[in-house]
Amino acid sequence: MPIQFDEKNQFFHLFNDNFSYVIGIEKNRYLTHRYWGKRLPFYAGSNALQRIDRGFATNPFPEERTFSLNELPLEMSTQGNGDHRIPNFQIRSNSGHDVTDFHYQSYSISHSKKPLPALPSLRQNQSEVTTLSIRLVDSQQNLALDMIYTLFEDLSILTRSTAFTNQGLAEVYLENAGSMSVDMANDQLDLLTLYGSHTNEANISRQALRPGIQKIESSRGTSSPQHQPFLALMDPFTTEFDGEVFAFHFIYSGNFIAQVEREQYGSTRVQMGINPDHFEWVLKPQATFYTPEVVLNYSSSGINGMSQNFHTVYQQHLVNPVFKTKERPILLNTWEANYFDLSEKKLLDQAKQAAEVGIELFVVDDGWFVDRNAADSSLGDWQADLKKLPNGLKTLSKNVHNLGMQFGLWFEPEMVSRKSQLFQQHPDWALQVPSYPMTEGRQQLVLDLSRTDVQDYLIDTLSKQIQENAIDYIKWDMNRHLTEVGSLAFSAKQQKEIGHRYVLGLYHILEVLTTKFPNCLFENCSSGGGRFDPGMMYYMPQTWTSDNSDALCRSLIQYGYSYLYPPIMMGAHVSTVPNHQVGRFTPLDTRAWLAMSGNLGYELDLQTLSSQETEAIAKQISFYKKYRQLFQFAKFYRLQAPNQLFQSAWLFINEQEAMVICFNGLAQAAHPIQHLKLHYFQDDALYEEQSTQQRFSGVELNQAGILITRIKEDFHTFVFHYKKVGSC
Ligand code: DGJ
Repeated sequence: MPIQFDEKNQFFHLFNDNFSYVIGIEKNRYLTHRYWGKRLPFYAGSNALQRIDRGFATNPFPEERTFSLNELPLEMSTQGNGDHRIPNFQIRSNSGHDVTDFHYQSYSISHSKKPLPALPSLRQNQSEVTTLSIRLVDSQQNLALDMIYTLFEDLSILTRSTAFTNQGLAEVYLENAGSMSVDMANDQLDLLTLYGSHTNEANISRQALRPGIQKIESSRGTSSPQHQPFLALMDPFTTEFDGEVFAFHFIYSGNFIAQVEREQYGSTRVQMGINPDHFEWVLKPQATFYTPEVVLNYSSSGINGMSQNFHTVYQQHLVNPVFKTKERPILLNTWEANYFDLSEKKLLDQAKQAAEVGIELFVVDDGWFVDRNAADSSLGDWQADLKKLPNGLKTLSKNVHNLGMQFGLWFEPEMVSRKSQLFQQHPDWALQVPSYPMTEGRQQLVLDLSRTDVQDYLIDTLSKQIQENAIDYIKWDMNRHLTEVGSLAFSAKQQKEIGHRYVLGLYHILEVLTTKFPNCLFENCSSGGGRFDPGMMYYMPQTWTSDNSDALCRSLIQYGYSYLYPPIMMGAHVSTVPNHQVGRFTPLDTRAWLAMSGNLGYELDLQTLSSQETEAIAKQISFYKKYRQLFQFAKFYRLQAPNQLFQSAWLFINEQEAMVICFNGLAQAAHPIQHLKLHYFQDDALYEEQSTQQRFSGVELNQAGILITRIKEDFHTFVFHYKKVGSC
């Protein structure tokens, strides 16, 4: 799986069995992008560079008027000397100027992938990787820019990041430190992004690129439910099943930009990085600034192909290796059953009933710590409220363990309430800008995670809780975005570093805790999917997908998130009806199929259910346990996108069996003929459908499809379970 350098033609050819990526060196100075797509046996430069003397073009070599940086397909933008497209980086010198002139200097190739210092990045694990590092230098200021590429064996994945090093004697200021830039040789493309809001995450936007810049971003301090740090470009004819997709996903949990520029001569520049708004980094002499990593994903088999690539690489190379192949427990979360109204007796009764139906992990959500009776107090005071839990957490945890379940607890560690002992003792520990009011969200303030004393306090507090109370699972919540992003611990010059330093502080805390407690399962949550991103996923292998647990809404949200994340990463709970977020009644079965299509949990008061409902839940749980390998580790494909009647379908398939789940949405009188093609069955295998015992060839299921009949009931779910019984 090599990276080859063609000395004569000055091309780097990065390839494996799945794709090729070619970088050129032009004039011994500039890095150009020459090709990305289907695997080539070798690259000889058939798509030669365009050379035209254009109006308004500026020329680094005055006599060569056909050579302009503004048209060259660059692999890294240049600054202030003629490349007028969006910049990947901007460096201000000590004398206040905004120009650099980086030239190619050298390259190195290694067969390993170094973790990015202080940042999450894809892990090498056992597989083969090759890393190419290309160094550019600005000799005037003595700056180095390293472009780092890693290619993984057997995957259609390439990672990119950039490192800026100051080898000079004067400080310089990074006003923009993007992770990557690439100029693609096509502008007739669709742009795919995921957008949303609290309780309405991961909506799909697919639009034809228009001339100019199109950007999605976050300046909220976190990656946000508003926009996923992701974009993909694709041919307008690409579907879920066919066609090329070029996707980019950012392993970062703070402010980001993902932008494209469809420029004047038919190419498209793509960039991803930390959002330069509200950012600046003082790069001291001899210091290096590492940018977060971007995952580049090439699919020649449509959007499902793109998703498969992401699912595989995240499960194999991103999550904590302990959880790579570990089955996830079925949990009961107490939030919607109790909100803040807890007592030891109530929890124990709920735990007993949970154990009886087969739940494996009992999670006490918000409300368990001192005086936490509403959202307006106590964050930061992580001690059990003895009025609610007179025997303390240790006893509660012991009792839950005695029932044969694991014990889980909710924290919102990054926050502090004004009404808390922590804030009384350390008002300087909150993010703040002197003399300005501290804006509250959900009546809470944000701790200044850029401070090492705050980091140490949180590591200490959480470690004690985990140890003393034998905690098996932590739900790590974060329920507001950042304002007054300033720190009392840093100089005036460094205040624009605080947004990024906050994220680095968070990563440090998580790195220490997950290393100290490798078997403790951390679930990421930010009012649901508010910080569902690969950076958090590196530490926490699952995320509470959305605070909206209505089955119909969840079918849309989980559909959207499945573009990027496998079902095992999506916490999905069966909740009560009428649903607490939208008031809708949906059948218990449908709620369960939706939750089983993620990482199954329950979030309701089992004591309020009828005996038939409790029995049904016990059956769901034992069914899921039987097929957990399929739901949590099989390949997942989308078969039908949600239509106006909210019908959608997806598939779990492994070597032995397959489960087709079709949500029927709203019933309609004039039901059309609907044959759902299954696409991903093995053509020459024979399958038996388990409820009818009918046998079909894989190719027939793929090509002719299966009939979805009419049903006079809203929100019904059809499930077809096939086992492979031979070949044909
Ligand atoms: C927001 C989360 O998304 C909910 O699931 C719940 O944990 C509440 N916070 C608790 O305050």
